[in-house]
Amino acid sequence: MLPTPRTLILLAATALTVPGVPTWAAQPVRARHGMVVTRERHATEAGLQVLASGGNAVDAAVAVGFALAVTHSSAGNIGGGGFMLVRLADGRTTFIDFRERAPEAASRNMYLDANGKATQDSTLGYRASGVPGTVRGLEYASQKYGKLPWASLVRPAAELASKGFTLSYAQAQSLRNGGRGLARFPESNRIFLRDGKFYEPGDTFVQPELGRTLDRIARLGAKDFYEGETARLLAEDMQAHGGLITLDDLRKYTAIERKPLTGTYHGYTLVTAPPPSSGGVGILQMLAMLDGTGFEKGGAGSATVVHYMTEAMRRYFADRAEHLGDPDFVKVPLTALLDPKYIASQRASIDPVQATPSSQVRAGKFSGHESVETTHYTVADDQGNVVAVTYTLNGGYGSKVTAAGLGFLLNNEMDDFAAKPGEANMFGLIQGEANAIAPRKTPLSSMVPTIVLKDGQPFLALGSPGGPTIINSVLEVIVNVLDFHMNVQDAVNWPRFHHQWMPDTLQMEPGYSPDTVALLQSRGYTIRRVNAQGEVAAIRFENGWLEGAPDPRTEGTAEGR
Ligand code: GLY
Repeated sequence: MLPTPRTLILLAATALTVPGVPTWAAQPVRARHGMVVTRERHATEAGLQVLASGGNAVDAAVAVGFALAVTHSSAGNIGGGGFMLVRLADGRTTFIDFRERAPEAASRNMYLDANGKATQDSTLGYRASGVPGTVRGLEYASQKYGKLPWASLVRPAAELASKGFTLSYAQAQSLRNGGRGLARFPESNRIFLRDGKFYEPGDTFVQPELGRTLDRIARLGAKDFYEGETARLLAEDMQAHGGLITLDDLRKYTAIERKPLTGTYHGYTLVTAPPPSSGGVGILQMLAMLDGTGFEKGGAGSATVVHYMTEAMRRYFADRAEHLGDPDFVKVPLTALLDPKYIASQRASIDPVQATPSSQVRAGKFSGHESVETTHYTVADDQGNVVAVTYTLNGGYGSKVTAAGLGFLLNNEMDDFAAKPGEANMFGLIQGEANAIAPRKTPLSSMVPTIVLKDGQPFLALGSPGGPTIINSVLEVIVNVLDFHMNVQDAVNWPRFHHQWMPDTLQMEPGYSPDTVALLQSRGYTIRRVNAQGEVAAIRFENGWLEGAPDPRTEGTAEGR
């Protein structure tokens, strides 16, 4: 039988299909003049509004940061910190580190009890917080790289807080279930749990105290947060409850502008997060380890691909445990970690079929556990500026403490330090010396906003929350686009997996076939199923189009203009 025109089209489509990539690909949001991808629709709209009124991508990123502090209470914040990676239209790149720093009164053993056992103080309550960096970091970015007046970027968030917004199903569920520890702190219980009369989907969530705090920040700038009324109230509340953050800590807080890490892979240039992120070195090391193995020939989703990528993850995470920490306090051997000879020897140690037990990779230390609650957003404007921001309170709803009279939650980022270097912590993980607590030190992070360039121009920008899984989620989406040629939405949707050396377990999302899982088990992997990993927000740049890809695992949204 002769083929009909329709069969010819289907045959042509099949011929172009990359193995493992369905022809019914999910589609990103496409626009030409600006794109904002965040995990929450009001924040996405706030960013788009700024672009529409003449702001650049940095302006929009600042506005999104403040809006998420109102509408995504579990991770969006002004009481936490994060990283902003910027690629400017003129080709310059920069990285703004506004992560929390340990207060002056912090000390190495501050989370150990009289018997030397780690307590839960690093995760819950007033003592868990590092000095917040978000407001300083966003102001720094706005002053140095933005165009619009500061107040115009903060005011939309102040209004969202004081007038309220309608809670979605997931937001109401998160407040009810995700914020369990909030009930222990009366101010948090009142604001976020309505004293036990939980918010329902469709309710209007009004936060007058937060609205007033944001209004002061809009009028007076970061000075209010670090030296003014907000600083005073925060320091008083800390003092009244045994917290460590003082007025002096707040006054001394500075954002640090750092040079991004760069590397190449398969003809692309990667611009990514330097220490105190552990993520950039991880992405570059793992891609370099994979390069030349031919892993990609297995096809997306194959046991071969999962095997090689997992072996790269295992080896990188062993190094992370040993060597990574705040570069202003410890020597991070970046050159050695990225040395092609070292990476070649790591690559050579990968058995093409069998899993290498983690105990044989390196007897060493894992540098801390991290919570999965963080958030990432990505913005691009029509001039060619691209911004990728990951920021966090660390755990969902941070320390669960709301600063009295101020309406915002505080982080529990001190838990990203190694509470007890050299010994297993309460989660059974062994932590590294390089990440021990010291006054004014920055805890190691996995947050890794990343921008990929092709021929010197933006090609892909992305990031994710997820503690240590951040690094692997970002790696996988990069590989999905660069090696498996998936469109960006498919690449984000694709099922993920994670290995972090210790524990020696391969975590996998649903979506891998039972035969693939069985094959991996026969190769020596212990597999744990998880519902979802990460929440990538990506933009791909394609022939003048901006393609926004939010993560369907949560309520991510992309809007363009
Ligand atoms: N708190 C999560 C991270 O910084 O990796």
